[in-house]
Amino acid sequence: MTARDVRQVPPVPLTVLAGDGRLVGSNGRYERFLPDLEGLYRDVDAYIQQLAVDDGRPVYWVESSQTEDGPGGLITGISALEAGTVGREYAMTRGHLHAIADRSELYVGLSGHGVMILETLDGRAEVVDVTPGKAVYVPGWWVHRSVNVGRERFVTLFCYAADAGQDYMIIERAGGMRSLVTVEGEGYRVEPNPDHRGYRLAERA
Ligand code: NI
Repeated sequence: MTARDVRQVPPVPLTVLAGDGRLVGSNGRYERFLPDLEGLYRDVDAYIQQLAVDDGRPVYWVESSQTEDGPGGLITGISALEAGTVGREYAMTRGHLHAIADRSELYVGLSGHGVMILETLDGRAEVVDVTPGKAVYVPGWWVHRSVNVGRERFVTLFCYAADAGQDYMIIERAGGMRSLVTVEGEGYRVEPNPDHRGYRLAERA
């Protein structure tokens, strides 16, 4: 292969507006609203009560930049998760395993105070504190989810392989993640989820 055969795309400048949870120069955005999060929290009554008074604003959103497809490309983005609780649990994202499970990811804390829950299919569980200036490398084969344990919006910068994809259902099939991050005084604690029944991969089609 010669240099002329290489598909070249221009560099992509991006500007992070951390407090606003914005990535200027991005070309993708999705939002999740409280009604989208049915089944995420264990306290169903508390969830239904919050739905009744929901203000309709997004609970979390992602703004991302993707320029190249395939295993060589990276998706770079901002994840912003509003503060809050549902029952005893802190606000969280749905979480996932990458559809190509060996794809890793880097998260860098920009604003607020959160944790990353990381779990393997064979039962290991870790919770990593993420604050501005702290980063966590999520290796391949770890299910991962962000939780906002602070009182402000929790914003992270992330970067992962463009071909990774997401399997969101793996957590649902397992009855939730193994670890719950719950309110304890001004802080949080990690406790086992009694509904968790172990992870299993989707049946191959
Ligand atoms: Ni991921």
